[in-house]
Amino acid sequence: MLEHDVIIVGGGLAGCRAAVEIARLDPSLNVAVVAKTHPIRSHSVAAQGGIAATLKNVDDKDSWEAHAFDTVKGSDYLADQDAVELLAREAPDVVIDLEHMGVLFSRLPDGRIAQRAFGGHSHNRTCYAADKTGHAILHELVNNLRRYGVQVYEEWYVMRLILEDGQAKGVVMYRILDGHIEVVRAKAVMFATGGYGRVYNTTSNDYASTGDGLAMAAIAGLPLEDMEFVQFHPTGLYPVGVLISEAVRGEGAYLINAEGERFMATYAPSRMELAPRDITSRAIAYEIRAGRGVYPDGRAGGPCVYLDLRHMGREKIMSRVPFCWEEAHRLVGVDAVHQPMPVRPTVHYSMGGIPVNTDGQVRRSAEQLVEGFFAAGECACVSVHGANRLGSNSLLECVVYGRRTGAAIAQYVQNRKLPDIQEQRYINEAKQQIQALLEQPGKYRIEQVRTAFQDAMTQHCGVFRTESLMQEGLQQLQQLQQQSAQIYLDDKGSCWNTEIIEALELGSLIVVGQLILHSALNRQESRGAHFREDFPQRDDSNFLKHTLSYYSPAGIDLQYKPVAITMFEPQERKY
Ligand code: FUM
Repeated sequence: MLEHDVIIVGGGLAGCRAAVEIARLDPSLNVAVVAKTHPIRSHSVAAQGGIAATLKNVDDKDSWEAHAFDTVKGSDYLADQDAVELLAREAPDVVIDLEHMGVLFSRLPDGRIAQRAFGGHSHNRTCYAADKTGHAILHELVNNLRRYGVQVYEEWYVMRLILEDGQAKGVVMYRILDGHIEVVRAKAVMFATGGYGRVYNTTSNDYASTGDGLAMAAIAGLPLEDMEFVQFHPTGLYPVGVLISEAVRGEGAYLINAEGERFMATYAPSRMELAPRDITSRAIAYEIRAGRGVYPDGRAGGPCVYLDLRHMGREKIMSRVPFCWEEAHRLVGVDAVHQPMPVRPTVHYSMGGIPVNTDGQVRRSAEQLVEGFFAAGECACVSVHGANRLGSNSLLECVVYGRRTGAAIAQYVQNRKLPDIQEQRYINEAKQQIQALLEQPGKYRIEQVRTAFQDAMTQHCGVFRTESLMQEGLQQLQQLQQQSAQIYLDDKGSCWNTEIIEALELGSLIVVGQLILHSALNRQESRGAHFREDFPQRDDSNFLKHTLSYYSPAGIDLQYKPVAITMFEPQERKY
């Protein structure tokens, strides 16, 4: 059996930042990161537009209080304000710390870190590295893993969280290279496993974003929080769905409908294209529904709208958002210097996740914590984003709460022993699970079931939701769950068998999808990204509370948890 003081599952920003913090605070601790891709290929690398922090380099009127207020208002007042206060207060320090690690931020002419406008933020506070900010930060953090002697298990798939008697004791993991299975025991387990964009058929997320950590926690009997809040980023490149950064609008691009209008004037006149994402995504969806969308060739009545950069000019486009220009050019043949880009909302981010306190320790209920288990980043819900996240607050959450969780773990493990685990039992169960997958006759290909599932989620739990639509979705999911037990694999080998990984991921997707649908069905109001056409108003009397959803194969149980309101009383949200 492998042993570490701390095992961190996930090699993206939150996991790497936590690992570096633990190793910095106590170099004697034996820390490992396990990831299903090479850490440099974690989805954090795809983050584009920036990281918010009130450095005041371009706007000396900014303050952490203003950042906190914007975040809470953006969250439609569902964010926990104690957690938001920490996020906003610690932001400048974590950004400077990243710079000291070597992150190459874009600069002002005087050499200070440049900051740009972003949706829902009242001041220009988003620090960036052109439109490759996640790439710049993740590369330095991964370099720092080496520097601090963190062991990395790359391309291992974690199959199971070992949780016994209310304590996380370790994980079971599968080496993708050759199918070897190991049990790891640790004094603390941390999940930083990212999001679940692949639950939907169109997403900005990479293929690895299949919600495995969320599903493992749920299958172990722990709740997931606020799963109904799924963020649609307004500007996914049509038809592929990849991200065209909000930075493009932050730098001045317009959203235009088939009639040539900047339609955001109707929906958010004071913020226009820089309204929060829930409002902007709904606005685009309304325009398309009303027949004012476009086809990429310019005809009216199509499935997207235009993002127009032409007035920005070649030099600004190429220096501030070169990667977005390149994506549109390479993927859909649009030269954004001369042509508008076709865009529509794409699934981007999970506001919900594994519930944690502000030290990153996982909650088993509103009042109780799980021993030895921590989480941070997109897979966790602390909750700083509530019902809708502001752009450039997710990289920030990863580093603020990655650092905080790392510090809490370094302290937590000091007086703890390695737990006892029945290694052979877990190895046998994992081997049986894999063997069953390889041997079952099955009648469906994995891709067939996965595509049907993604289509069902997209159709039944998308930007606009109703009771009947979601009930139909749940019925479809029941059928698809049965089909997922009847998949067959062509590859029966153990060498780099990606079909096995896809089969395990399909299991994760379906668990997560059910939790999203159930949570959404029970929230009979509209708040942030969760928009119910049958309950179009926010309802603070009945729903100013977090959902905790518990999974079991027999069904899903829902409980609720109060929202922490410390600074800003809920009010009507207008932009
Ligand atoms: O649009 C973007 O660049 C995305 C940023 C974010 O999700 O924070």
